[in-house]
Amino acid sequence: MRRLTLALPGNEELAHSLAQACGSEVGGIEIRRFPDGESYVRLHGDPLGRPVDLVCTLARPDPQFLSLVFAADAARELGASEVNLVAPYLAYMRQDKRFQEGESVTSLSFARLVSSTFDKLLTVDPHLHRHPTLSAVYTIPTKALHAAPLLADWIVQHVEKPLVVGPDEESEQWVGAIAARIGVPHAVLRKTRHGDRSVDIDAPDLSAWRDRTPVLVDDIASSGRTLAMAAHKLVEQGMRRPECVVVHALFAEDAWTQLAPLFFRITSTDAVPHASNRIALAPLFAQALLSGQTDPCG
Ligand code: R5P
Repeated sequence: MRRLTLALPGNEELAHSLAQACGSEVGGIEIRRFPDGESYVRLHGDPLGRPVDLVCTLARPDPQFLSLVFAADAARELGASEVNLVAPYLAYMRQDKRFQEGESVTSLSFARLVSSTFDKLLTVDPHLHRHPTLSAVYTIPTKALHAAPLLADWIVQHVEKPLVVGPDEESEQWVGAIAARIGVPHAVLRKTRHGDRSVDIDAPDLSAWRDRTPVLVDDIASSGRTLAMAAHKLVEQGMRRPECVVVHALFAEDAWTQLAPLFFRITSTDAVPHASNRIALAPLFAQALLSGQTDPCG
């Protein structure tokens, strides 16, 4: 029986590409507010006896999450053989520790809620920092897909003589892999974070690469401060105006208007719908869903 793909509002484009790549049927989810602010959720499409893939990127998780749970529960009650969450951007991965007394470790609470609602979780490049793997926090089968090969292929096709640059030490593994895949050099900057919107960046001497186009690569652009500071450091050294390639285009508040003038071009995957999306993730998700392979549970 064909799978059923259902998009939460705002995720229709990726859901359609995913359904096309998987050969699944596309249904719909109707969501509206009752006068008192509660949510009304109705599935359009019959889940009976087949896997249902709910597509919902979690870039703005708080207003969406309850409707997502209601839709998943409805699919299960209506007979879905499994209910999966395709969340290209997985929220609440960054508060992975109690930094100050009394703080909520939201990555753990969020993982518990998702694990009690879905059978499987598929995502792309979750922000794993102090949690080594998704299975360290999620109790359902998960699949963390990697966009690096897609980023590398985009860079080699669109940028002349690239120098792949990571804005902080955390990005070393990424930029190293991207540069190795396309046979170009890479460099890594050093970042010190002072607050949500305050970072300092130090750059090594990059003068040997002045004839190249720097391509800043990061997993997330949120406040945009990391990329902005990194771009300034490159230009201060007389490098060309950089390109920027990110996986998750969150661009919170005024980040996009601050960043756009600093770069020759900003490119992102379609993990979070945005005008900068140029790299499609549907084939990656389709392959994972059809092969059924997940990482072991913790
Ligand atoms: C942090 O470690 C990540 O890799 C990103 O560099 C970070 O989340 C970007 O955040 P922002 O855009 O707020 O500087």
